[in-house]
Amino acid sequence: MKKKILVMDGDGVGPEVNRQAFKVLRAVADVAGITLEVDEALVGGAAFDATGKFLPEESLEKARDVDAILFGAVGGPKWDTPETRGGAEKALLTMRKELDLFANLRPAKVFDELIEASTLKRRVVQGTDMMVIRELAGGIYFGEPRGIFEENGEKVGRNTLVYSERECERIIRVGFEMARKRRNKLTSVDKANVLEATQLWRATAERLSAEYPDVQLNHLYVDAAAMELIRAPAQLDTIVTTNMFGDILSDEASMLTGSIGMLPSASLGPKVALYEPIHGSAPDIAGQDKANPLASILSAGMMFRYTFDMPEMDDLIQKAVGEAIKEHRTGDIFVEGTKQVGCEEMGELVMKQLHQLKPIAAASPA
Ligand code: NAD
Ligand code: IPM
Ligand code: MN
Repeated sequence: MKKKILVMDGDGVGPEVNRQAFKVLRAVADVAGITLEVDEALVGGAAFDATGKFLPEESLEKARDVDAILFGAVGGPKWDTPETRGGAEKALLTMRKELDLFANLRPAKVFDELIEASTLKRRVVQGTDMMVIRELAGGIYFGEPRGIFEENGEKVGRNTLVYSERECERIIRVGFEMARKRRNKLTSVDKANVLEATQLWRATAERLSAEYPDVQLNHLYVDAAAMELIRAPAQLDTIVTTNMFGDILSDEASMLTGSIGMLPSASLGPKVALYEPIHGSAPDIAGQDKANPLASILSAGMMFRYTFDMPEMDDLIQKAVGEAIKEHRTGDIFVEGTKQVGCEEMGELVMKQLHQLKPIAAASPA
C-alpha cells in the first residue's frame, strides 16, 4: 500500500513534536507494509516569514493532493502584532474549511500510569475514556457577518453562530456511529436554552436518535457539561458538540489525562485527513526540547486507524506510549519517582518500546 503524506510543522514546538511523530509514523508504516510518499509544506508564522503569506497557495494545493497531513501547531507572539494578529490561526482555519475537515475526533483517555499526574483526585480521573467529537468546519468560527465595524459612532465586534440542519446532521451522525463502536452512549452538548442555532442542533440529534435505537442519547448544556467533565468524567463516553464548545471542552478534558501534551486529534473530511495535537505552539517552552511529543505521536497513531484503516497499529503505538511513560516523563507529566526527559528523548523511548513490541526498522533521522 502506498500513501501520500504532507508534513506541516508550523511554529513554536510544532517542528519539535512533529519530528518525533514522523519518526514513529515512518517506522510503524514500515512494519505495516505502507510505502509513504512524503512531502513538506510551510504554514503559519514560518510560512509568513518565508513567503509573506501564512498559507501559501502552494501549501494548500499540496494539502489537497495527499491522503493525510501531519500537522504541528501554528501561531505565537512574533505574529501577534496589529498587522498580523490571527493570521497564523487563520491559515489552519482555512485549511479546515477548504478541505472540509468537519469531523474532529479528540480522544481523552487516561493512561493508568498518568493518573497521579492529573491535577484531580485518582478516584475522579480513573476510568476516563471519552471521545470528544468537535464540529470543525462551521459554527461561530466561520459564520458571517464577522468583523469589527463602526456602528453609531462606536466600534462593534461581531461574530455569527450559524449551523444548517445538514451541518448538524453530518457531525451528529459521526457521533452516533462512533458511540456504536464504543459504549453506545452519546452526549450531545449545546446551549439550546439560549441559542437557536443549537436548538436546531438538539432537534436534529433527537430526530436522528430514532435511527440509532441501540445508542442512548442524552443532552447537556455546555456549562453543565464543563462541570460534569470534572465531577464524573468516567461516566462520559462519546460527546458531540459545536466548533467552539468542542475547542474549550477538549482542552478541559486534556487535563483529565494529565496534560494537554497528551491529547491527539484527527480531523476528517471527505478526502483528506489532518492529524495534529490539540495543543498550540507553546511559545513559553518552544526551542528548549521540553515539549511533550506524545500528543503528536498519538495523532500519528490515529492516522493508522482512520486513514490507513489499521487500528492495530494505533493500538501498538498507544501501547508503546504507555510503556514509555512508566519511568520517564516530560516536565508537564512529571511526578516524583520518575525520570524527567526532553522531547527528543521521549520520542526515542517510544521508538525503543516499539522495537521491543515489534521488530521495526532502526531509527534514522527524520
Ligand atoms: P498552547 O496550547 O500553545 O499552550 C498552553 C500551555 O500548555 C502552555 O503553558 C504550554 O507550554 C503548554 N503546552 C502546550 N503543549 C504542550 C506540550 N506538547 N508539552 C508540554 N506543555 C505544553 O496554547 P496558548 O498558549 O494559548 O497558544 C499559543 C499559540 O498557539 C497561540 O498563537 C495560539 O493561537 C496557538 N494555538 C495553535 C493551535 C494549533 O495550531 N492547532 C492550537 C492552540 C493554540
Ligand atoms: C485548536 C486551536 C485552534 C482552534 C486555533 C489555533 C485556531 O485552538 O486547534 O484547538 O481554535 O480551533
Ligand atoms: Mn484549541
